[in-house]
Amino acid sequence: MAQVLGFGDVTAARERFSSLQSGFAFLDAPGGSQVPDEVGDAIARTLREASANMGALYETSRRVGEIVLEAEVNAARFLGCRPHEVIFGPNMTSLNFMLSRTAGRDFAPGDEILVSSLDHDGGVAPWLELAHDKDLVVKHVELHDDTTLDYDDLRRKLCERTRVVAFAWASNAVGTIVDAQRVCSLAHEAGALAWIDAVHYAAHAPIDVAEVGADVLICSPYKFCGPHLGVAYGNERVLERWRPYKARPAPTTPLGRRFETGTLPYELLAGFNTTIAYLDSIGGFEAIVPYERELGERFLATISGNVTIYGLPGMEGRVPTFLVNVDGVSAAHVAQHMADRGIGVWAHDSWYSLDLYRRLGYEDQAVRLGFIHYNTTDEVDRLVAELDAVGR
Ligand SMILES: Cc1ncc(COP(=O)(O)O)c(C=O)c1O
Repeated sequence: MAQVLGFGDVTAARERFSSLQSGFAFLDAPGGSQVPDEVGDAIARTLREASANMGALYETSRRVGEIVLEAEVNAARFLGCRPHEVIFGPNMTSLNFMLSRTAGRDFAPGDEILVSSLDHDGGVAPWLELAHDKDLVVKHVELHDDTTLDYDDLRRKLCERTRVVAFAWASNAVGTIVDAQRVCSLAHEAGALAWIDAVHYAAHAPIDVAEVGADVLICSPYKFCGPHLGVAYGNERVLERWRPYKARPAPTTPLGRRFETGTLPYELLAGFNTTIAYLDSIGGFEAIVPYERELGERFLATISGNVTIYGLPGMEGRVPTFLVNVDGVSAAHVAQHMADRGIGVWAHDSWYSLDLYRRLGYEDQAVRLGFIHYNTTDEVDRLVAELDAVGR
């Protein structure tokens, strides 16, 4: 049994990460999280002790089979689905290209796909390419000024030609959360599939695909202390209808595996299993959610007046990912100032959230920073002090 730390004990959790021992404050988890040593150890151990392919009669191959089964069970528990509804792949974007193409095999010219203006392009480009090839129509659901989704616009844009409503559950740029249950139920009322990009959300809150009513959901463990990998859920009834793109001798059962192409990265699946055990051991999202909220609230309560937050001004309806502008200072300068002082934040243009970028209309002024459970109040305070300093 894993020991439950609870989240008063962030220090104990941090001791499990070599990367966190240098004192550098990694406030860049939205771009990819740090990874506890035990995950790296599990990957290395698998390469040492279980380098084989599935299906042979000897020990290392048997071990690989166990790793895959265990990974399916862990992913199912993480997502709230059944193990045969899990599909592994290299990352969210690749899985999304593959699954959208599979879903679209029977779409007809003029069929419509709705995406949201909050989305990362990994959730949009696959539909645009499918639309290009099959003469479909892709429409964006609008946002309100505070970056929340305009559900009335969604309702207006749904029609009998809508085949898919695809959306990011949380924005990787501004942190805004979408009411996934509401969107899924509106999609279903119109006879469309509900298709969730949970890459950003998955690091910050528990997922239950059955509760929200998703047909497809995809996330990436490298955002929540795991290896570079993609994990998808596909509802059994939906997957059974689809014709997979697969090599003919590859297995067709369990169901999800028929959508996995080629040999899986078994060592990364072993790392993923250890990631899930790590998250359990620190108390899971029951511990993580209130702790991260506390970090976000502390940040919002203490930033000085020269720092503007894009999007929602409080912690309600968001995860602790912030896009900020320090008045009169370029993002590149802010990020460099922080890097020189041992704080990792990002200056980029769009964070791949192209429609949001166009909508917010900033040029070089937006810095993204994000808190995750291994960050500390001390790191938040250092950040706030340096944001204040760089603005003066
Ligand atoms: C919200 C969101 N969707 C999709 C992606 C793409 O994920 P991946 O890198 O696994 O393809 C990202 C990556 O940052 C993301 O934040």
